[in-house]
Amino acid sequence: MVSSEQPRIQWLGRWGFMLAATGSAVGLGNIWKFPYITGEFGGGAFVLVYLACILAVGVPVMMTEIAFGRRGLGSPVDAIRRVVRESGRSSAWSLIGWMAMLCGFMILSFYVVVAGWSFAYLWKMLTGGLAGSSVDDMAAVFEANNANPWNLGFWSTLVTLLTMLIVGKGVQEGIEKSVSWMMPGLVLMLALLIAFGVFSGGFAQAFSFLFSFDAGSLSSEGMLAALGHAFFTLSLASGAILTYGSYLPKGTSIARTTLSVAIADTVVALMAGLAIFPVIFANGMNPAEGPGLIFMSLPLAFQAMPFGTLFGTLFFLMLSMAALTSAISMVEATVSWLCDNKGISRRTASWSTGIVLWLISTLAMLSFNLGADWTLAGKSVFDWLDYLTSRLMMPLGGLGMVVLAGFVLKSETFRDELGLAPLPYALWLSMVRYVSPLGIVVIFIDALGIYQVSFAAHWPLLLAILVAMVALGEALSPRLRPALQARRAL
Ligand code: PFF
Repeated sequence: MVSSEQPRIQWLGRWGFMLAATGSAVGLGNIWKFPYITGEFGGGAFVLVYLACILAVGVPVMMTEIAFGRRGLGSPVDAIRRVVRESGRSSAWSLIGWMAMLCGFMILSFYVVVAGWSFAYLWKMLTGGLAGSSVDDMAAVFEANNANPWNLGFWSTLVTLLTMLIVGKGVQEGIEKSVSWMMPGLVLMLALLIAFGVFSGGFAQAFSFLFSFDAGSLSSEGMLAALGHAFFTLSLASGAILTYGSYLPKGTSIARTTLSVAIADTVVALMAGLAIFPVIFANGMNPAEGPGLIFMSLPLAFQAMPFGTLFGTLFFLMLSMAALTSAISMVEATVSWLCDNKGISRRTASWSTGIVLWLISTLAMLSFNLGADWTLAGKSVFDWLDYLTSRLMMPLGGLGMVVLAGFVLKSETFRDELGLAPLPYALWLSMVRYVSPLGIVVIFIDALGIYQVSFAAHWPLLLAILVAMVALGEALSPRLRPALQARRAL
């Protein structure tokens, strides 16, 4: 075990990590993005591939991140440096930590703008600002909300302030307490909305849309979107989960905790789908509406239903809460790094981070109005932040971490930290060595536009590459065999 100068604070309650990590994972990604990309990529088939990606890539990568955090007891930079040093490897690997930390910070810079939409809509819902009779009217409301920089800036600034306030209060008091009431509240409100859907129509159609598997609607783009979304939705390669993992007590099972977080995240995403699609179908709307699905269409639907203002308010309240519990996790790595390395208090660290965040997020916010023309290669500041993080940094960071864990570090490190029985350990190892890297490389190649990978057409090639990777990997560094032999010896 790597020791640090001071004992690191840990989560207070038994459920502390579970609540905080679930709060991080469940966010705009589940409630805003998952339904709209599911709608875009054809429903059931997309959902199935997404579930497979969560299991084959998301879960192993998340276990690896938590183990890095708990082993290295620090922010991504410090934790990775300590863990690689323990194996006598170069500290240059901590670059992965720097990138993850930066990635979380950059995601937050545009995430506060989207979260700001949610807060703005909560306010509009409460004050009757969402009156309109057509999708066009709602599109106009959305555009008007974005067009005024003072208005949009007010909401994103509010989200920034709330985020830094919670983070500044500290791991136990701030994060753990806020999540412990926000998460159950969120699930309750989703359940309420689903119950509403069951009684008001559209539920059966929504259910079959989400769960009927139609292989014909599987596109390679949809499969890649599913894989990319698995990263985003589980908050991977952005420092959040790794830093939260550094507060995890030694005795807690990483595998079990990861599975619980992944299940909770998936259940909330599916619940969000089951809550939203009945409304879409009952009102004859198009599920493939795109990113504006919630903001442009749902207020219209809420307006048409009994107690619509109440349900609409609950919905945007829930979305804002989910966004906030994710936002606080994105900046935790940076704040933790500042506290540990610069000797400043948590409060100072969080307010100084907040100022930089506010400046960058203001640029992202201005992309929707004054800065709409400040583009580079056709992308605004907002688009670039999104593109760089989800297309480049997350896949690269995830790849770096699984390669480190799978091939570079001493095998005892992760064997000790994960504390798994031989068979689950061998399963984790084969995932981080072969399945996850291959999946990540495929997204990466596609994201860079180097080559359009079609799973339908290229699966024999991909399978052959996987087999070749296993053969080569095991020839160069045979760790899987001893793990399995250990099992036989038991
Ligand atoms: N998982 C969050 C969501 O689904 O909205 C997004 C996210 C949170 C990404 C934290 C990255 C992160 F570090």
